[in-house]
Amino acid sequence: MPIGTDINQAAELLRTGGIVAIPTETVYGLAANAFNPEAVLKIFQAKQRPSFDPLIVHVHSVEQALDVTDTAQLAPEVQAQAKALMQRFWPGPLTLVLPKDPRVPDLVTSGLDTVAVRMPAHPMALALLQKLEFPLSAPSANPFGYISPTTAQHVQDQLGDRVDYILDGGPCSVGVESTIIGYDAESGRWVLYRPGGTPLEAVEAAIGSVPAARKKVMPVSPGTLESHYAPRKPVFIGPIPKLMQRHAGRRIGVISLHTNHGAAINQVLSPEGDLAEAARHLFSALRTLDNSDVELILAEEFPPEGLGTAINDRLRRAAAGAREQG
Ligand code: TXA
Ligand code: MG
Repeated sequence: MPIGTDINQAAELLRTGGIVAIPTETVYGLAANAFNPEAVLKIFQAKQRPSFDPLIVHVHSVEQALDVTDTAQLAPEVQAQAKALMQRFWPGPLTLVLPKDPRVPDLVTSGLDTVAVRMPAHPMALALLQKLEFPLSAPSANPFGYISPTTAQHVQDQLGDRVDYILDGGPCSVGVESTIIGYDAESGRWVLYRPGGTPLEAVEAAIGSVPAARKKVMPVSPGTLESHYAPRKPVFIGPIPKLMQRHAGRRIGVISLHTNHGAAINQVLSPEGDLAEAARHLFSALRTLDNSDVELILAEEFPPEGLGTAINDRLRRAAAGAREQG
């Protein structure tokens, strides 16, 4: 299974209905021609992901985003806000959920009348998108429910034999998935579907307050599932010294912002306490601990600001399975 940096080969495989893992600034995606349902179906099969979970469509420009959406359905001031968000935050880790153009297949949107679009801030992803005659639908390139990949090797380890090519763009610079917001026609306001790589504070500075979506998009929407991004080992969140006492005698791995708590294995995500650096290292740290000989993973709660909000969200989902088991 080839890993490489050949953008032309990736483009050719995508043109002929293949699936290719691509680097983005957030996490690696598993991409297919968004206009080719047969190719898109292969993504769901490779990930073993339920096909009622809608995918994000990746574009190379605001123009292409306007092509896959139908913003004319929105009030003029909302159209203006959507365009302003694209211009302000793209390329970058902000996904917008907007009314869809009829050309986008139901398999991509799970039959919803909206589509999620984003323009990734990765030079290789953008070069690839610019070569292609179509946008790319791509979920994160991990088996359904597991930790998202932030290096080409992570993809190779888990989906290597199920993808046609892995385009290696180095380690992801943001490290957590995009922030997803959408215009909710019913409530007449922008809502947050998932915190992520663009701090919500920055989005709110542009368009005012963006409350969490109250309704789930689909019966089950994996990115918003309680238990998701989950390692195989139990994860517990809280004050580390207290948790270490409670689990004394067991082999413990710890994820913390800047303090080394002296566990068997310690993953200090940012010695300087920088939340963006911590986000960049989060998924690798979870993987390292999951693949190590520790019995359980303890994580501290991160400051709930900037990328700390996305980190806490992913840790909570990683811990959800453990909580369910008690
Ligand atoms: O950073 C990212 O967003 C990465 C990279 C590869 O771009 N992609 C990613 O895709 O995280 P995925 O499929 O793992 O998560 C996308 C989330 C899903 O939870 C899905 O439910 C939500 O986007 N979504 C997609 N279309 C939607 C829609 N029309 N309305 C609401 N949520 C939607
Ligand atoms: Mg995902």
